[in-house]
Amino acid sequence: MEIIRVKNADEGGKKAFEIIKEGIAKGATTFGLATGSTPETLYSYLVASDLDFSDKTSINLDEYVGLSGDDEQSYRYFMNKHLFNEKPFKESYVPNGKAEDLEAECKHYDEIIEQHPIDIQILGIGQNGHIGFNEPGTPFDVKTQVVDLTESTINANKRYFDKVEDVPTRAVSMGIGSIMQSKKIVLMAFGEAKADAIKGMINDAPTTDLPASVLQNHDDVIVIVDEEAASKL
Ligand code: F6R
Repeated sequence: MEIIRVKNADEGGKKAFEIIKEGIAKGATTFGLATGSTPETLYSYLVASDLDFSDKTSINLDEYVGLSGDDEQSYRYFMNKHLFNEKPFKESYVPNGKAEDLEAECKHYDEIIEQHPIDIQILGIGQNGHIGFNEPGTPFDVKTQVVDLTESTINANKRYFDKVEDVPTRAVSMGIGSIMQSKKIVLMAFGEAKADAIKGMINDAPTTDLPASVLQNHDDVIVIVDEEAASKL
């Protein structure tokens, strides 16, 4: 793992932006994308740039079960607002959280990932060490699946909802096995709330108790951390 320390989320987003820019110059065409607060500065830099994504593909990590793409709390909506409306891609995949048959949706999503191998995967990390919505205890080889969100994740995400009861309790998430097949992985973490997860991910032996620790088994991972997230290293 290469660790890049930055002052704050803005500097971190800029670093990630430069990695994507360099990746495109070297031929990257398919990007795995994350939602949440962490990648927001990266998306601002992408939007402000002259990079063209109209011949590129994006594949998002996850979507809440039960929310349609025009629901303001959905991850499809988040991506449209923060990136796709300004920088349209040739094709942008986000799991369909409203699919009637969620098992079939997971299979379909795995086929999409297989057809479009991810060149650069952007990740945030949960306070409990989740990547995508692969919560602690998830086997390292799983593919796309429907997951029950943990209390820690529901609490962390309630800031986007009026009340905690409104936070969906399930999501469709790309699996750890698929994330690990990405050629390059860039994980960003900003803020003190991520310090324990970052410490465990980097310093402890890989364990399913801390899903992000699996990244130690990948040979091209860049971790971008601000001072607070790096404070326990
Ligand atoms: C989002 C995702 C999650 C988030 C993580 C951190 O698509 O897959 O793993 O990256 O929950 O969320 P933030 O960035 O809001 O702290």
